[in-house]
Amino acid sequence: WGVEGHRVIGKIAENHLSKKARAQIQQLLGTERLPLVSTFPDEIRPYPEFAHTSPWHYVNTPVGLGQDEYIRTITTMEKPNAYRALQEQLQKLKDPATSKEDKVFALKFIVHIVGDVHQPMHTATAETSGGNKIKVKFRGRESNLHSVWDSGLVDYPAITYLEMAQQLDHATKSEVRQWQQAVPATWFWESYQLSQPLLTEAEQHPDLDYTYYPKYAPTVEQRLLQAGIRLAGVLNEVYGG
Ligand code: ADE
Ligand code: ZN
Ligand code: ZN
Repeated sequence: WGVEGHRVIGKIAENHLSKKARAQIQQLLGTERLPLVSTFPDEIRPYPEFAHTSPWHYVNTPVGLGQDEYIRTITTMEKPNAYRALQEQLQKLKDPATSKEDKVFALKFIVHIVGDVHQPMHTATAETSGGNKIKVKFRGRESNLHSVWDSGLVDYPAITYLEMAQQLDHATKSEVRQWQQAVPATWFWESYQLSQPLLTEAEQHPDLDYTYYPKYAPTVEQRLLQAGIRLAGVLNEVYGG
């Protein structure tokens, strides 16, 4: 996602933190907060000393995998990817031996990666660079499918991230429970399933006209909400209570 999407997810997560998690996170972040730090991994990405974190934002797989095969593929992948990075940064955050500085870094990446993997293009194919190579027209302007999903559809309503978080944050208790019970591999599988028809559709009809936003707004909103709720879930699990 772009800035707006990540901030929405950070804000929704804040709303669902336990007291313990909230206190521990404030201890780590000081005056910074989840919505603000959510975009840190994108801000450091262009710097050579952080080049190794570039593959931590996504996972590419072939199309047409079934659930078991997909999950086996992403959970056993050797090269750096979002699934691996999420596990590693969670381990670091949980480990009492980790320095405060490294815990802050881990927390910022966890916030970001949980968000990114709910964006269907972040689990799309390598050949299309996660939709980056699929040229489309969106609202009459040249763009690509990845960018449309990162920010085009999120920015369309032209409201602040706080307003969007408030509008979206109406998950029922049973949705919250169900979403938080799903393990991370399931989040990736959901995104992967969403990505496939989106790639095919945009390749066949690259002019994403006025029907595209209303068609996919509910999907975008659901993925932002699920990401926020699940981010709170993993942080509550780390800190207890
Ligand atoms: N962002 C940059 N490269 C990407 C890729 N190959 N897949 C998904 N997102 C990306
Ligand atoms: Zn992206
Ligand atoms: Zn990212």
